[in-house]
Amino acid sequence: MSFLSQLDWRFATKVFTPHQTVRTEDLDEILRAIRSAPTSFGLQPFHVYVVTDSDVRAKLKPVSFDQAQVTDASHVLIFCYRTDARERIPQYVAKATTQMPEHAEALKGYGAYMQGFAERLTDDWIHEWAKRQTYIALGFGLAACAELQIDSCPMEGFNTEEVDRILNLPSHVKSIVYMTVGYRAEEPTRPKFRFSDKDLFTTV
Ligand SMILES: Cc1cc2nc3c(=O)[nH]c(=O)nc-3n(C[C@H](O)[C@H](O)[C@H](O)COP(=O)(O)O)c2cc1C
Repeated sequence: MSFLSQLDWRFATKVFTPHQTVRTEDLDEILRAIRSAPTSFGLQPFHVYVVTDSDVRAKLKPVSFDQAQVTDASHVLIFCYRTDARERIPQYVAKATTQMPEHAEALKGYGAYMQGFAERLTDDWIHEWAKRQTYIALGFGLAACAELQIDSCPMEGFNTEEVDRILNLPSHVKSIVYMTVGYRAEEPTRPKFRFSDKDLFTTV
């Protein structure tokens, strides 16, 4: 299966079959896709919590508008953005230099360039920027699921502050969107609706 052949098959799954678990090998592929997503400067300012624990899910459900996917999907991936992008720059340079010491000089210059960019941004903008990168990673995760014929639902319908508290997140990590994954119990109740090409695209 390719992602393109699965575009009509995938849908935002509302009802998952409880107890049907995504295989570890498949979950690893989904995580690999998320890890491979492009991000600005390659800084990957996100973290994903993979939740399977039923007690944690039971706590998450009431702060997620009681949406059934939270307890019935095989896994709940909680995408969080990081607010510490500035601190991540020297970490990037140090780790990348360990991996490719022959590029140490270039990486040092790249680090200085990134630092110069980050210094000009306000904290609010750094957070906004990190959120955008996190959604690209979500997109890669959704695409990987479709290709593997694993159902998924992107979900923003939850109280982020409550979720951060339940997961006891460090202060520089903030939840922003879920991707629940598993297997559909029902087909979609209505056909897909999309605006037309004309509405969405302009060639100039
Ligand atoms: C960022 C985002 C947040 C969403 N939040 C929810 C949600 O909280 N609950 C839900 O059931 N669906 C949620 N959806 C699913 C959308 O409603 C769905 O993708 C859209 O209606 C298009 O339908 P399709 O994905 O089945 O093609 C969300 C989708 C996105 C991209």
